[in-house]
Amino acid sequence: MIFPQRLAIASRNAHKLRELGRICADWPVTWVTVADHDGPWPEVEEPHDSYRDNALAKAHEVAAALGIPAIADDSGIEVDALDEGPGPRSARFAGEDATDAQNLAKLIGTIVGTAPPGRTARYRCVAAMAWPDGTELVAEGVCEGALVPMPRGEGGFGYDPVFVPEGGFRTMAELDDEEKDALSHRGRAFRALRALLEEG
Ligand code: IMP
Repeated sequence: MIFPQRLAIASRNAHKLRELGRICADWPVTWVTVADHDGPWPEVEEPHDSYRDNALAKAHEVAAALGIPAIADDSGIEVDALDEGPGPRSARFAGEDATDAQNLAKLIGTIVGTAPPGRTARYRCVAAMAWPDGTELVAEGVCEGALVPMPRGEGGFGYDPVFVPEGGFRTMAELDDEEKDALSHRGRAFRALRALLEEG
């Protein structure tokens, strides 16, 4: 497969848009986002229980509506003490319309009573690309780590202030952008997606 001339990013999440803009900065395409698109942009739900189905739903809906290929991601945190939850429901952990701050507070509440060996967790991201004719590509990225009960750092978003990537001491929110992108689930997933695109 070759890179399309124009490629849409099927996300309204400002944090994800910023990260994808950095991670995919050297893709030889003209990016189309909700902010610069002239015309309606579909409101896509995340109705499924799997990252893969949600990521594909977002990419296909935007590709079909705009008539150009689209990329999307679905991601979440998997906490071993919560049987790998909240997983694909990470954005709605504290309720349907929960804010990042509410979700973070709920996660901290659940881990304070867990001894450190039980605080292992991982971020997972599924990156999808879809074409208007229904063609699709999917790749996954994982970042293993552990949770701390006291939030630290100002960078990143979501659960980053309590997530310490494996092999380090700083939380994801204490890393600079390049450090986060190099080891994050999203960085890994979209670099793998690019490799698939180049192979095809
Ligand atoms: P969704 O992919 O739009 O369903 O949202 C995933 C949710 O998982 C976000 O709202 C965050 O709570 C969490 N999440 C995903 N990726 C990250 C990340 O890189 N840092 C922190 N939280 C994340």
